[in-house]
Amino acid sequence: MANDASAVFDTLSPAVSKGSLADPFTPPVDSSLWRKNFLLGAATASYQIEGAVDEDGRLPSIWDTFSAKPGKVLAGDTGAVACDHYHRWEADIEMLASLGLEGYRLSIAWPRVMDTAGVPNRKGLDFYKRLLNRLKEKDITTFVTLYHWDLPQHLEDRGGWLNRDTAYRFADYADLMSRELAGTVDAWATLNEPWCSAYLGYGNGHHAPGLANDRFATQAMHHLLLAHGLAVPVLRVNDPASQKGIVANIGRGTPNSDSAADQRAAHLFEVQHNAWILDPLLKGAYPQDLFELWPGTEPLVLDGDMQTISAPLDFLGINYYFRTNVASDGAHGFRDVPLEGVERTQMGWEVYPDGLRDLLTGFKRTYHNLPPIYITENGMASDDQVTDGHVDDTQRISFLKRHLAAVDQAIKAGVDIRGYFLWSLMDNFEWAFGYERRFGVVHVDYSTQKRTVKRSAEWVAKFLKERKARA
Ligand code: FCB
Repeated sequence: MANDASAVFDTLSPAVSKGSLADPFTPPVDSSLWRKNFLLGAATASYQIEGAVDEDGRLPSIWDTFSAKPGKVLAGDTGAVACDHYHRWEADIEMLASLGLEGYRLSIAWPRVMDTAGVPNRKGLDFYKRLLNRLKEKDITTFVTLYHWDLPQHLEDRGGWLNRDTAYRFADYADLMSRELAGTVDAWATLNEPWCSAYLGYGNGHHAPGLANDRFATQAMHHLLLAHGLAVPVLRVNDPASQKGIVANIGRGTPNSDSAADQRAAHLFEVQHNAWILDPLLKGAYPQDLFELWPGTEPLVLDGDMQTISAPLDFLGINYYFRTNVASDGAHGFRDVPLEGVERTQMGWEVYPDGLRDLLTGFKRTYHNLPPIYITENGMASDDQVTDGHVDDTQRISFLKRHLAAVDQAIKAGVDIRGYFLWSLMDNFEWAFGYERRFGVVHVDYSTQKRTVKRSAEWVAKFLKERKARA
């Protein structure tokens, strides 16, 4: 394919495809990546890095409960210690700053900052205040996600996201956080990946709280989106100078053949992964095709909910990882047909940068009101080892540069994309896969908590230094 993102990049700088640092990443002069206001940062999430789950009044979250159940997480791993970031945050921020990263996307652990009655927990709040103040001192742009999946267990005990009341509790939490942290947050994201919370949490049970029912998934999604919609105006009042948005994971579905049935299957895949979230946010309605896939699962929606959910956003965060090749399942849905001979990561996910570009340009066509976009996560897992103090993660360098090329192509095609966050700053607790899957640009030795900067992080740092020098 002539405009294949990987091919374009390899033509421009063939040596870079080997991931060698001797051949630094030199995007073409007209690449948007050179724009100094194109934000380049890294992302993490509270439960995946903080540890200290019993400290300073933190309450249990649904992930503490879920990961403690046998068979739910690979090797029985939990986030109890994780990267011990709760104690090592200062050194971790030094590391982030020393790499020259300009932005940091972190999340707040709701169970750390409020008790069961909603009373603020000062010790937990102070942790985030110290962290955000330090980031501001370092002139790092801060993106704060309010909900990256660690729901307080006491709310799950009252129905979690199946209970409409959780959306109102979330608005209270957003109110407290934005009153306390106003001035240190550049951008607030209400939710991270409601698709995962609703579908993996309540639809197939692969994530906490581990329920499996399509009807639950659609209702949980509705309450998650409602929570978002209720929080946005609160954030606007308390912290007017910051940007407000939400983070969605998006999936590319491609048809296994030209048959109408397979084309329809790919369409339904993208409805289920993308339109289910983006249509309510940007069009104020659920896509009706979703209920062809899952008949009889329409959520209970009260008057005014869709207006609340579709209030204007300042930005849309996009997380992209891979594509799925699908065929018709012979009934109303789709089934995965894994492609042979394609490049994959440690997760088994296909490396497919064009999917990111194609989805973004597609959204631009579909949604006339598409807000400015930040790529809030993109990255890959590999089985990284430290050898002589180095980690040669060459596949990751290649992955990142191809996806950055895809982002540049989308920008040139007219999509307003303002930044890109690597997932992740450091290896961490990868949910149901525990510590085995390493997504970081910094390696973490979990027995010593030693951090080792990988080649990919050196590569990003080198590019950022070069960009600064040219500015
Ligand atoms: C996303 C999550 C993030 C991380 C990556 C690999 O779905 O938002 O926490 O686990 O996947």
